[in-house]
Amino acid sequence: MNYKLPYKGQWLQFSDKDMREWSRSQRDDVEDMLAEYHQNPLAHFLPHGVPWHEKELILADGAIKLPPSQYPKDWGNDGVAFMNDRTNMFDMLLAPRKTGKTYHGAAWVCSRTLKCDPNWPIFQYHKVQYHEFQGPTKAVLASSGTQNLDDLWSVYQEVMPRAELGPWAKDWGAFEVSGEARRTCLSGMAGRRSSPHRLPGRSSSFSRMPSSSMYGRVSGLRYYTPTNRSN
Ligand SMILES: Nc1ncnc2c1ncn2[C@@H]1O[C@H](COP(=O)(O)OP(=O)(O)OP(=O)(O)O)[C@@H](O)[C@H]1O
Ligand SMILES: [Mg+2]
Repeated sequence: MNYKLPYKGQWLQFSDKDMREWSRSQRDDVEDMLAEYHQNPLAHFLPHGVPWHEKELILADGAIKLPPSQYPKDWGNDGVAFMNDRTNMFDMLLAPRKTGKTYHGAAWVCSRTLKCDPNWPIFQYHKVQYHEFQGPTKAVLASSGTQNLDDLWSVYQEVMPRAELGPWAKDWGAFEVSGEARRTCLSGMAGRRSSPHRLPGRSSSFSRMPSSSMYGRVSGLRYYTPTNRSN
């Protein structure tokens, strides 16, 4: 089996075979880290994205032109800038398929709605800025269809701290040993994949909203500002 673990700003990659060659204490340390990551992926989230660039960045043979970065160089990439943007009400992440758009979006929402700890590696080493918890929030996951909502929710299940998810963790029961946890597990709650109507989390609650009225027509005019006025 292969493992990937965010650690102090980079991804550690190793296999069971590698681990067998390590000393007992190294193995213990990494196993602890893996367990911690599994319990709280948000705390270890390592954003990725286009690297900070001073000049216009041209990608895909000119098909994509990105303006110079407008965030501190030290943040390193657009994923971090996306996470740290507290100025705009909406943020949009553009990327090819299966590259982590929803994962970053879920981390963005969770970092704004859940009670976080400034000592988490995401804040200590991964350049995401810590903001004090402002009290419980109601987060609404909305989408045009239930299937898409379930796909979204599945990624939220990957990112959210286990302590917030409770019985909504995909492998609920794997670590919990209390009688209550076992009962919940046996009663068929374990690893529920479809999104809850309402998730009463520890610090905020999440609701779902499948709605066809989500479709809105967005239109805009194209403005030109010619440098030379001709009339
Ligand atoms: N920074 C990250 N840390 C951990 N896992 C990640 C990260 N980015 C992506 N992943 C993993 O990659 C998977 C695919 O990511 P995600 O669903 O966010 O991609 P996407 O760009 O939204 O895909 P789609 O194009 O289908 O909408 C996630 O379920 C997650 O397991
Ligand atoms: Mg997605």
